[in-house]
Amino acid sequence: MALHDSASTILTDQFGRRVDYIRLSITDRCDFRCVYCMGEDMTFLPREEVLTLEECERLVRVFVGLGVRKVRVTGGEPLVRKNALWLFQQIGQLDGLRELVLTTNGSQLDTQARQLREAGVSCINISLDSLDAERFRKLTRVGDLAKVLRGIDAARAAGFARIRINSVLMRDFNDDEAIALTQFAVDKGLDIAFIEEMPLGEVTHDRASSFVSNDETLAALRAHFHLVGSPETSGGPARYWRVPGAETRVGFISPHSHNFCESCNRVRISCKGELFLCLGQNDVVNLMPFLRDHPADDAPLRAAIINAMTIKPKGHDFDLRRAQPAVMRFMSVTGG
Ligand code: 5AD
Ligand code: SF4
Repeated sequence: MALHDSASTILTDQFGRRVDYIRLSITDRCDFRCVYCMGEDMTFLPREEVLTLEECERLVRVFVGLGVRKVRVTGGEPLVRKNALWLFQQIGQLDGLRELVLTTNGSQLDTQARQLREAGVSCINISLDSLDAERFRKLTRVGDLAKVLRGIDAARAAGFARIRINSVLMRDFNDDEAIALTQFAVDKGLDIAFIEEMPLGEVTHDRASSFVSNDETLAALRAHFHLVGSPETSGGPARYWRVPGAETRVGFISPHSHNFCESCNRVRISCKGELFLCLGQNDVVNLMPFLRDHPADDAPLRAAIINAMTIKPKGHDFDLRRAQPAVMRFMSVTGG
């Protein structure tokens, strides 16, 4: 089915930003417990409160009908959800969709990478904060570094267009690994992005003292690599540098020091079907009733999504000095 151009202008907010990118969390569960992402004891949602995979598919189909061109599936850890592959296969076949991408902790990629590629996933972001097995275990509380490294190699073998390592550096945890992680990316032909820790959800460490700014990370890297500024974007908030002679792009996502909200083109959908208009604000529309009360009629759902654009906020206001996190929900709920 050929899509009319008008479909691509339907989702525009009051600041003229066109929304053509959705990030869908398909589970709040994860096999890791990263210290910046989760508390030690997490209570996860009961199954009936979580979107079924069929509801996920329907939601994505409706968004794509409204002009969305890129879908990122996230979690929690999306690949621990049973039958997740089915959803990727369905989304991968939607007319009008240009990019299907995934954010994962890499723990399941050794067995799933190839099928995900075949389903149409083009790019993968894999979280990796340390190359030291013991430290990796501490940061993730339970994770097995060797398994994730096997997953990264499986992804490389599967032939994705791009694979990006996501790293969150924290003072006195892993802030001495910027160079090693970048060298790893260079050696493996991957991109890497350094993400500043964001105040999402309540965690057990003091974020103000663990915070490492990307300016500091960039300075450390430039002392070691000859980095060349690059105007390219991945359509998102990362600013990129290149390592000459290597495939690798080194990105910096700096929500604190560089505000990227003016060009925001995305919304997030939680695994409960809540449509979050901004990662750092509480503006939300619950889409679940539109799915469950109208199982055979997409019109109310479509109208709710179009309406929601009018409350997309201008931007976030993260402030590390504040006693409370900016928003009380973890990334694993909203979708990273
Ligand atoms: N701040 C910054 N990054 C976070 N992530 C999860 N929680 C946070 C947080 N509070 C990262 C993960 C993953 C990506 C989706 O988001 O490391 O790479
Ligand atoms: Fe799981 Fe990712 Fe959160 Fe770590 S950051 S606990 S891997 S969802």
